[in-house]
Amino acid sequence: MPLPAIPPRVKIPPIPAATLPSQPGRWLWTCRAGFEPHLFEELEWAGASPRMLGEVLVESEKRPPEPPVFARTGIRVQASLPAEQSPEQLAESIAARVAETVPAGLLVLQAFTPDSPAGNRMADEADALLEAVRARLPADRLLEETWRAREAGATLVELCVAPGVVLVGSVPAREALSLSPGGRQRMRRSGDSPSRAAMKLEEALVNLPFEPGRGEVCVDLGAAPGGWTQRLVARGARVIAVDPAKLMPELARQPRVEHIQESAFAYSPEEPADWLFCDMAWRPLEVAQLLAKWGRRGWASHLVANIKLPMKDKNPILVRVRHILTQEGGWQGLTMRQLYHDRDEVTVTAHKAI
Ligand SMILES: C[S@@+](CC[C@H](N)C(=O)[O-])C[C@H]1O[C@@H](n2cnc3c(N)ncnc32)[C@H](O)[C@@H]1O
Repeated sequence: MPLPAIPPRVKIPPIPAATLPSQPGRWLWTCRAGFEPHLFEELEWAGASPRMLGEVLVESEKRPPEPPVFARTGIRVQASLPAEQSPEQLAESIAARVAETVPAGLLVLQAFTPDSPAGNRMADEADALLEAVRARLPADRLLEETWRAREAGATLVELCVAPGVVLVGSVPAREALSLSPGGRQRMRRSGDSPSRAAMKLEEALVNLPFEPGRGEVCVDLGAAPGGWTQRLVARGARVIAVDPAKLMPELARQPRVEHIQESAFAYSPEEPADWLFCDMAWRPLEVAQLLAKWGRRGWASHLVANIKLPMKDKNPILVRVRHILTQEGGWQGLTMRQLYHDRDEVTVTAHKAI
């Protein structure tokens, strides 16, 4: 199988100190702080003509065919307003712009600030503006149950309240990368959850149309100390946890957990599993090869994997990981996203042909 061509490296422009206005019709993307260069580069590789707008904000002329891995959310800009107007004036202008540009029907109105120290200080301002705009829109257009937005065919309207500028954008909820304001999909840490890792799994599962259930067999590669295994068991699944390290004692005692204390590279299942989970702290290309082997051999039907990316140049690695999983592993419907709870890592989901 020929290796994929890696596009030439992109010269990354500096991040402007103050957020720049955007132009209506362009796409606004948010990302984790410090990941702007990676988002910029993948938008450039996709021919979407990106521009750095400010901390955690990148715009592009077009929306790329594949959602950018490092984008938490993306909206089509409808208006870009200087923040120095009075809150009433701002709310009036935004409400008028929304009424003009957002197709008739239900809408979910949200506000976010850039996920940066400067942005976080503006949270109260964003809340006040959101309420002022909400009060000026017809109540029967506002959908409060955000979780129903996709099935209700609603439009997601987001106000990005950034230092010096308020950007207003929208996207049909069915096409939205996230239904959380600014893509910050915070999962609650439950009292018995042993690790931060569990929240990565919960966030990945929220984005899937279905999830592992009662009686299904899940293999969890790199399972210790057991956050993912614990969440899977709580859903009623049977888990084969593969990790040379120890599991939490209460999990090791769980009858629906089998701990195989060896390297995932040495393990092969006795029979195919329903789900393959992987959160191994190991080199991404070697992990991808291992997951591809599982795909080729039909050892699992569904895949959820967290790929570690501690290196500086992340996009070339991701091009290879995608190629290995799809071309060599036969995994289909691949999604690859840096989720809110992901740090120097991205989450991949995929399935085998049904
Ligand atoms: C980030 S932790 C996993 C956390 C886990 N998902 C949880 O929720 O508790 C990474 C794990 O990968 C394991 N690991 C590293 N190399 C491995 C290998 N070759 N086979 C299996 N596990 C491996 C480490 O022992 C470590 O426990």
